[in-house]
Amino acid sequence: MRRISSIFLPMAICSVLAMPVRITAQVKAQQPAASSTKSRPSAIAPAQSLPEQAKMKTFIDALMKKMTLDEKIGQLNLLVGGEATTGSVVSTGVEDKIRKGQVGGIFSVTSPQRIRKVQELAINNSRLKIPIIFGLDVIHGYRTAFPIPLALAASWDMELIERSARMAAQEASADGLNWTFSPMVDISRDPRWGRIAESSGEDPFLGSAIAKAMVKGYQGDDLSKNNTLMACVKHFALYGASEAGRDYHSVDMSRIKMYNDYFPPYKAAVDAGVGSVMSSFNDVEGIPATGNKWLLTDVLRKQWGFKGLVVSDYTSVNEMIDHGLGDLQAVSALSLKAGLDMDMVGEGFLTTLRKSLQEGKVTQPEIDNACRRILEAKYKLGLFDDPYRYCDENRAKTEIFTDANRKIARETATRTFVLLKNLNNTLPLQRKGTIALVGPLANSKENMVGTWAVSADPSKATSLLDGLKQVAGSNVNILYARGANVTEDSALEARTSIFGKLMERDNRNADTLIAEALKAAAGADVIVAAMGELAEMTGEASSRSDLNLPRSQKKLLDALIATGKPVVMVLFTGRPLSIVEEDAKLPAILNVWFGGSEAGPAIADVLFGDQNPSGKITATFPRNVGQIPIYYSYRSTGRPLQGDNFQKFRSNYLDVSNTPLYPFGYGLSYTTFNYGDINLSSAKMKGNKQLTATITVTNSGKVAGEEVVQLYIRDKVASNTRPLKELKGFQKILLQPGESKQVSFTVSTEELKFYNHELKHIWEAGEFEIMIGGNSRDTKSETVWWDK
Ligand code: BGC
Repeated sequence: MRRISSIFLPMAICSVLAMPVRITAQVKAQQPAASSTKSRPSAIAPAQSLPEQAKMKTFIDALMKKMTLDEKIGQLNLLVGGEATTGSVVSTGVEDKIRKGQVGGIFSVTSPQRIRKVQELAINNSRLKIPIIFGLDVIHGYRTAFPIPLALAASWDMELIERSARMAAQEASADGLNWTFSPMVDISRDPRWGRIAESSGEDPFLGSAIAKAMVKGYQGDDLSKNNTLMACVKHFALYGASEAGRDYHSVDMSRIKMYNDYFPPYKAAVDAGVGSVMSSFNDVEGIPATGNKWLLTDVLRKQWGFKGLVVSDYTSVNEMIDHGLGDLQAVSALSLKAGLDMDMVGEGFLTTLRKSLQEGKVTQPEIDNACRRILEAKYKLGLFDDPYRYCDENRAKTEIFTDANRKIARETATRTFVLLKNLNNTLPLQRKGTIALVGPLANSKENMVGTWAVSADPSKATSLLDGLKQVAGSNVNILYARGANVTEDSALEARTSIFGKLMERDNRNADTLIAEALKAAAGADVIVAAMGELAEMTGEASSRSDLNLPRSQKKLLDALIATGKPVVMVLFTGRPLSIVEEDAKLPAILNVWFGGSEAGPAIADVLFGDQNPSGKITATFPRNVGQIPIYYSYRSTGRPLQGDNFQKFRSNYLDVSNTPLYPFGYGLSYTTFNYGDINLSSAKMKGNKQLTATITVTNSGKVAGEEVVQLYIRDKVASNTRPLKELKGFQKILLQPGESKQVSFTVSTEELKFYNHELKHIWEAGEFEIMIGGNSRDTKSETVWWDK
């Protein structure tokens, strides 16, 4: 990530290119499962009609005829505006390059006034007046920050996710932008990797549904409307599988695993009509993705039919020099030939392609194709019709960070929280008596918006303390004490504050802080402990090797528990943490991730029971780091463990169980749900018929609540080893107390398919286990025999 400085640049460039952004439901029952792509609300953005395509071709052919080689190469150049505060490479001389037609796109400049000025540089000065495309990392909301993507995924609500992307597009386009570097759909099965926070978690089926919903939300049904953004699915490919969870590290995996587990969400975004794709930093089978022809051309374009533009990640062309693939000219030629169209920030294309063409190292059609795809994107965005169509100052004043948007962000956040534990109905809190709110994250607006919210102003977010005060009502007395710093390790904290301080440390000694917290606790009926990570302990270049709660917080927690009063932990995190001890000691844990601008009141809504939590985790919580990678859809070994206890010569550990702390799909509610048995429409199936699997779910508690009913399938005998279970459908249903609903899933041979050893997408006859439940561990099951 590159965050853009809030500092204004010296006047020359400042006026135009510096930007003052900071550094730094109810769901109907019986809604169709997200299974098979047909199911959820996301209609696919309509492809251009043939006459429209022909019109576009005529226009671009004519334009390209007029373009010189340098002007074509100029279009392939994407620069960063403003002042990037990280990374070794920062774009310079941008204004001059725009005048010379050497820039195709700019990112990280915002506001209609500034964008208009930059656009005017191109339109009024460059020879062919080709408009610039304006991008930004609009990842989870814009000025109104929504919960981090890992949290949004936990809602399992595709309409909600689509709406969050729609609103982000509405706000960002009102601020002049037309391109977002989102959705990030990298399957992430390693919580050490900081960017798991930006992902949808570990599952390809859910990840694909989310990819579609986001593309649809950003792009709407017409890219040329001034309230839509072109989406960019990233990071193609496999970035989430970096070795050891270390960012930018190598990736190596079998093609079977790529096709079955890691590719589906990228492909889903392509199928949904995503306009652009970003290549990833990592290598794949020994070739960096940015220069990997198999990925960018064979898979993406030939197999999946992608027609849009491919952009590199930030200087990922140049970084191939460090990968050991040659000098800048060599790696730039390699990238272009691989199928890369646009070079982000590194300017390798700009400075070497002419020479490479002269030396026969790239061809004219390769340059032309890349240029054409960029011009096509601009055409589809309507920029040739009106380069200033996104520069409406009135919209910027009225459509950004509005009360209505903040209300939706608050409601959205409540639906992403996951109740991990709730012994004896410790939660919800009563609206009377005294609450001691303690912990380093209790009064920290700065940390609420989460990583990768570059456009949100954290000072406008609401802290948990303020949220609690707003929502509690007059019968509740709230006492606050910080109690601890996030970590005793001030150097670690400093490393996470690279984009600007996320929190001032309290430099009093740990015992003094704890004593202050105990004083607050002494007068309270219940203690709410706001703990976890700083927002920037996750995100780019924020990998961690220790997923425990830091010692400073553990010490505070133990002191609070020793008071004998009920302690509820509100856990702030951007990744699964290994909170085994806390789970054992505490009666209640509510995982709230980083909930966005309205996190504070949203958490209070849930703590007081105005909203019933319904989120379910989409990345497995390990017991310890040694279990990683740990995910639910693993394949059986030849020596599977029978039961939970250690067995010699079986696949298990001496020192920890095989099971996770919390399994994929897990999350509690203030009510309880009972599952009946599965009823299959037939136990024997043939050919392309459809099977219906029905289960009755009952709300057996006292309040209304939503449940995510999950369908898993196991292919019991196949020509390849197959996962023990794979998610193939889900429905989020609302049940009143005592109410029962029948939930039906349709299973066709599509859901039985997998990529076999020859990478053919097939299904094989045989026995299949159909499992339905409220998480990936606790399921009912039936078997079906399916013949060809
Ligand atoms: C990140 C991308 C991001 C780009 C532009 C890179 O460091 O990997 O996800 O879109 O910067 O900010």
